[in-house]
Amino acid sequence: MNQIIGLDIGTNSVKAIILQDGKVLGQTSVGYSPDYLGDGKVEQDPAIWWDATQKAIRDITAAHPGHVVAISAAGQMHSSVFLDENGNVIRNAILWNDMRTTKQVNDIYNAAGSDVDLVETAHNYAFEGFTLPKILWLRENEEVNFNKVSKVIMPKDYINYKLTGRVATDVSDAAGTLLLDIPNRKWNTEFLAKVGLSSDLLPDVLESVDAVGKVQPELAAELGLSPETLVIAGGADNSCAAIGNGVTRAGQTVISIGTSGTIVTMFDKMPEPSVITGEVHLFNYSYPEKFYAMGCMLCAGESLNWLRTILNIEDFNDFNVLAEQSSAGAGGVIFLPYLFGERCPYPDPYAKSIFFGMSTTTTRADMVRAVMEGVAYNVRVMYDMVTVFTPITDIYITGGGAKSDIWGRIIASALGREITVLNIEEGPAFGAALIAGVGAGIFADFDTAKAQFLQTAKVIQPENNPIYAQQFEKFEELYCSNSHMW
Ligand code: XUL
Repeated sequence: MNQIIGLDIGTNSVKAIILQDGKVLGQTSVGYSPDYLGDGKVEQDPAIWWDATQKAIRDITAAHPGHVVAISAAGQMHSSVFLDENGNVIRNAILWNDMRTTKQVNDIYNAAGSDVDLVETAHNYAFEGFTLPKILWLRENEEVNFNKVSKVIMPKDYINYKLTGRVATDVSDAAGTLLLDIPNRKWNTEFLAKVGLSSDLLPDVLESVDAVGKVQPELAAELGLSPETLVIAGGADNSCAAIGNGVTRAGQTVISIGTSGTIVTMFDKMPEPSVITGEVHLFNYSYPEKFYAMGCMLCAGESLNWLRTILNIEDFNDFNVLAEQSSAGAGGVIFLPYLFGERCPYPDPYAKSIFFGMSTTTTRADMVRAVMEGVAYNVRVMYDMVTVFTPITDIYITGGGAKSDIWGRIIASALGREITVLNIEEGPAFGAALIAGVGAGIFADFDTAKAQFLQTAKVIQPENNPIYAQQFEKFEELYCSNSHMW
């Protein structure tokens, strides 16, 4: 019985999903948390991912005995793992939502010449969360550690390395370093020279569907795999989530509400230079030769998580009940979801959150609804930016946020668009499993793969309520008129 496993090496958990004969056999998740160190610093010990990954694979193979043909991982993007020449981790990984690198971001613009020059060479703006600023930060602040670095890789690459012994990455994660020549899908040696880094620091770049190798024999036995199990390169979580939501045609779009919130739209070829402005990311897709545009807000699901602690709400389902008790417009309350600073739609590491419009009649329910609406309005600003690349056809929603009916309805209403929820919710892990299947030749291509698994679970209709448009206008103004104060 041929099985495939998909993993998602996330910020708060590792998820695993196992497929066989066009069916999802099972899934599992092993939780952990990142270290929030203050001053915008967020780190994680890669050993935590590896321990959680081993447990997730062991649990899932024990529950569903069979022959695992291939395994592949999605992973949090940009988070930097620094390996020494023996393949040992030098220091904790610096994560995608870490904001310590504003100086290095400025240095990158200076090295490129200007923001226009940077977009010309890297097809993206530089953001604090990206990998290149983290490498430069290490060079400047931890020279001893920097001198030990042999390779810089991303979280799912670390897992692939532990599984196979080979250090490599794939185009979708390589793109998030800022060091990839996006149109040509190889390292940008000219830009590396401008920032004074050697390409030796970077691993081989594969397509997401390429094999990194096979599982090392001694591990295979321990994990319930076979020494013949192929490890397929996999990709960035957002790219895999889009694959997992069946995004295989230009204009198809997926909104993902996890810790961060993203909107990803795929297209077939590089857009005209005149529409590439750098505000939204332009990256290589896990579908060979394709590209995607992505807006990434840093604090989506995490805004509710924060509110849970502040308001002492035990269960995430209570949020849905509370949000229903309020009404569209949240009793006039507006929330700016910038608890981590922001990346998109506003490249502003200093951005702060605001609860605006509160009075003595404001309830907990209004505050919960305002957080859901604030995230939805922020997605709307990113949606408007992404449409510049290609008209948006179908919209899917995935991630923890897709599990909430009311949040889905609020997002659909803020966009004024119908949104589809598919039958399989584990977007990135499921996408990674499809990548494993295509890579191992079990599926001819992604269209064949998705046809076997994906069906519409529900279609969310937008509410035609003018209050969303009114609040959205205020939401945008609230950021613009306050941003000079942080
Ligand atoms: C995307 C990004 C986040 C992480 C979350 O650019 O930084 O969505 O990938 O895991």
